[in-house]
This record gives sequence, C-alpha cells and structure tokens, in this order.
Amino acid sequence: MITPVPDVNTLKELRAKKSVPLALVPTMGALHEGHLALIRQARKLVGSTGTVAVSIFVNPIQFDRASDLSNYPRPLEQDLVLCEKEGVDLAFIPKKSSLYHPDHSVLLSESLLSQHLCGTSRPGHFDGVLTVVLKLFNLFQPDFAVFGKKDFQQLALINRMVRDLNLSVEVIGHPTVRENDGLALSSRNCRLSPSQRADASRIHHALSAARDIRTTGEQDPSILLGSARSRLLRDAPKDFSIDYLELVDAETLQPVASMTRPTVLATACFYGEVRLIDHIAIRG
Ligand code: PAJ
Repeated sequence: MITPVPDVNTLKELRAKKSVPLALVPTMGALHEGHLALIRQARKLVGSTGTVAVSIFVNPIQFDRASDLSNYPRPLEQDLVLCEKEGVDLAFIPKKSSLYHPDHSVLLSESLLSQHLCGTSRPGHFDGVLTVVLKLFNLFQPDFAVFGKKDFQQLALINRMVRDLNLSVEVIGHPTVRENDGLALSSRNCRLSPSQRADASRIHHALSAARDIRTTGEQDPSILLGSARSRLLRDAPKDFSIDYLELVDAETLQPVASMTRPTVLATACFYGEVRLIDHIAIRG
C-alpha cells in the first residue's frame, strides 16, 4: 500500500529524493474518474521515470458553509487504494495543523476573475483555493500541475496566479469527465439521493440546449440565459434551486452584453444542501 506523507517536513525530505520531472494533482479526495483522468494525464506528462504526486486535503479555508465542510466525503482508505492502482508515486495527505499555523495571517486574493460566478456566491472561496494551491506549488516545486476544466473559474484563477506571480510551473487543464447522462463527476454527487441523482442531468442538458440556440444564430445573451433558466427549472424537484446562472466572457470572466467573443454559460445549482456546478463553452 502507498504510504501517505502526513506532514510538510517529511514531504520536503521525500521531494528532494524524487526523480524529475514531477507532476502534481491537487485534490480534496473522494477520488472519482475525473480525478483519475487527471492522474493519468500527469503520468503522460512525466513519463514512466518521472514522479506523479497527488495531494489530498479538504482545505478548510476555502469552504464558505460549515455544513459543506463537515459533510465533505473523506474515504481515505479507498483514495489510497486508487492512488496505488494508478501508480501514484507520492500521496501528500497533511493534517490542517501541518499546513496552517494556528495564527496564519497571510492570504492570497485576486480582484478581477473572482468577481462573478462562484466568487460572488462563495465569499472567500477563491482566496482559500489560491492560498492552498500556492502553498502546494511552493512545497512540491512541480514542473506540471494538472487541474480539471470542470472548475473553469478555479483554473482561470490559477493560470492568472501563475502569470501574475511569475511561478515556474506549467498548468495543464483536463476536460470535464461526465457520467453517461451528462452529469459532471463531482465528489459531492455521492451526497445526492437516488431521485436527486436521477434528476441531476438536467443541469448539463439545460446548458447544452442554450448552446444549441446559439448555433442557430441567436445573438442575444438574455435569450440564452432565459432558455437555460426555464430549462433548469422546468418540472424541477422542490428542493432544486439555482444559485447563479451567468454568461461570461471566456477570458475575462465578466458578464457579457453581446455575443461577439467566446463565452461561457455557467451555473451553480442546489439539490437541498448539495451544491453542483457546471458550465458550457459557447462560441462568439
Ligand atoms: P477537487 O474538487 O477534489 O478537485 C480536484 C481536481 O479535480 C480539480 O482540478 C478539479 O477541477 C478536478 N475535477 C473534479 N471533477 C472533475 C471532473 N468531473 N472532470 C475533470 N476534472 C475534475 O478543486 C479542488 O479539489 C480544490 O479546490 C483544490 C484545487 C484541490 C484546492 O483545494
């Protein structure tokens, strides 16, 4: 069984002995096929003699709701089995106290790309994400870091951090892995009841339908948004609600008034307490 690295000092020692190049896949665990696709991409990047590292850490400072943090799935044994199966060389699974000093007082923040979408609906979330990812980059000094395009705002922010802070890691984005019915894989999906799970493909289908309207030549963002909203809410279960639904510029992540450039239609929806996000690219 792969031996998890539990603290920063052991990681530093082990890191120095690992062969290069090194690709890092940061996760919060509850690994599913989406995470595994990232791990396989990491292996492709470094080859059989390089190092694939995975971090598993449910980062408390990126959670805006206490119940979301306490209910976050933590199937650690199963995650380790999956890491072993995928040939992961290093699994970093720190305790909170190993990563954060009790009186830690420095946070990274971003002031443009984080102003809409999850940035508005989850205050402080991206400060927490950027801070922990920068810490992981500093600890691992990876040549590559692989992230999912599923969290496209997160990926955009990490790319911006790498650019703006002159970090020397190459960030690779991996396409979203979906269930057969279109639902994007997520560690939170296991918290859906069977009926919620059966219903949840409505999110992808509503976004796809709006994208199809664009391909017929529709230019008006409000028509696309209106279509997606009504499709999301049509015959929806009682505990379903939309957190946000926005059409933003694919590069600046600011809401658009016209469809002249590539855009992204993005949503976050609730089934009860379970929050799911998804998005679809729409051409300009
Ligand atoms: P987590 O939600 O565990 O996701 C870890 C990585 O897996 C992220 O890069 C995410 O985009 C990717 N991922 C999740 N579901 C995916 C899917 N269906 N298809 C492709 N990739 C998928 O994202 C985080 O953790 C955290 O915010 C983290 C970056 C680790 C910082 O704490």
